[in-house]
Amino acid sequence: MSETGKYNVLFICLGNICRSPAAQAVMQAMVDERGLTDRFYIDSAGIGGWHIGDLPDKRMRVHARPRGYELTHRARKVRSADFEDFDLIVGMDASNVDDLCNLAMTLEQQDKVVMMGDYIRRYPNYDHVPDPYYEGSEGFELVLDLLEDACDNLLDRIIEQNNIVK
Ligand code: 4NP
Repeated sequence: MSETGKYNVLFICLGNICRSPAAQAVMQAMVDERGLTDRFYIDSAGIGGWHIGDLPDKRMRVHARPRGYELTHRARKVRSADFEDFDLIVGMDASNVDDLCNLAMTLEQQDKVVMMGDYIRRYPNYDHVPDPYYEGSEGFELVLDLLEDACDNLLDRIIEQNNIVK
């Protein structure tokens, strides 16, 4: 828990323009719905820096909007301070988790890294959130389905393990 008394969660994907900004918006909406807005800080970043400063991919924004998510995040690259500033760092797939573990400077920092796939419950055929960048519409809808499922379970776990109350 940070000095501000908030629990800080950072979502990570490769480019920070599809999966992780969507995860950020889904989690923020769930935190808000549960009346826990003041108890959390949610952000996202990318392993790569190709899209720094960009809004999320138009396709991701178009698919997220009817579900009530406005994606306004500006892409940024993960930085070493993130391992200090955040309580939990959530990679979308095994490659993200490998990269994050390599960037971590200490075992304590490595312990902050988890994989989103471990919180998927309703879609047993998926153990990660697949990159939709080269996919069609179904790929983007699938990302949102998986994120809504996984964020709900992840939030339950965070609240339970950290005794977070309104
Ligand atoms: P994301 O998707 O990791 O879900 O944001 C990608 C977006 C862009 C690239 C790769 C993945 N890219 O190589 O530019």
